Amino acid sequence: MDTAIRPRRSELATPASNDWMFEKAAGAGADLVFLDLEDAVTEAEKAPSRAKAVAGLRDIDWGQTTRAVRINGIDTRWAYRDIIDVVSGAGAALDTLIVPKVRAARDVWWVDVLLSQLETDLGLANRIALEVLIEEAEGLVNVAEIVRASDRLEAVIFGAGDFSASQGARVDTNFEPTAEYPGDLWHYARSRIVVAARMAGIDAIDAPFPNFRDPDAYRTASERASVLGYNGKWAIHPSQVPIANEVFAPTADEIRHARAVVAAYRDAERAGRGATSVDGMLVDAAHLRLSDNIARKADLLGL
Ligand code: GLV
Ligand code: MG
Repeated sequence: MDTAIRPRRSELATPASNDWMFEKAAGAGADLVFLDLEDAVTEAEKAPSRAKAVAGLRDIDWGQTTRAVRINGIDTRWAYRDIIDVVSGAGAALDTLIVPKVRAARDVWWVDVLLSQLETDLGLANRIALEVLIEEAEGLVNVAEIVRASDRLEAVIFGAGDFSASQGARVDTNFEPTAEYPGDLWHYARSRIVVAARMAGIDAIDAPFPNFRDPDAYRTASERASVLGYNGKWAIHPSQVPIANEVFAPTADEIRHARAVVAAYRDAERAGRGATSVDGMLVDAAHLRLSDNIARKADLLGL
């Protein structure tokens, strides 16, 4: 079961080096915006970008948007300073850290321990959450332990770009196969990640889709991930945000039906029956669970 406490239909990437983009990102309507210190930022820009992220978190009105920063991988020399500088400078204005290229549970544990020390030392009232990227072959193999490594973990993200490289797949710049491949090249990775996420009661977020000039293909990719159980998708451009927000929200019909199923099942239960029908279809405990998922999602989104 997914026990999400905040919506994540869309997670919008913004390079932390490009602070002129922050205002627009904050107003894009994304459920989450992350200022990226990792792959969108050159080595020379790493240190100045930390200061820009701190200023952006503190000075901009982010409204309802969840505020996140993607740090560098913990196998780099930047990760510890990313965490210390960003949390010391703007910890009270930061909801979530995103940790890339996680390979094993100990990677998450290391970040968790450092965060705990910082939060105590700084006297922060808020507890900073974590999301991790599964984008290394080793991370996919270990995903079941990774998702249970910290109670700060709220989401696991499939990073198709780095994962393609790690696996040695032959893909184009949109991470699609360069030759005919039956089905979805990433079905195994996507499925393994979402199953692990559900086991741990956290969200699963689908990969970036680089071709932002093809909204229809982005919609199709979002719909496929949504059907599989993903809660949201990365957006690498503000124009992708409304599409993800729409696709990953339950429709009005789904919500109406789900609430009817929950009500009918509860009525049947009170009458001592374990099954009933809605719109001429059997409703039993499995339907109740499915409908309950939709009803909870709708409640979370205020629909
Ligand atoms: C995201 O970081 C990816 O590598 O796809
Ligand atoms: Mg990556």
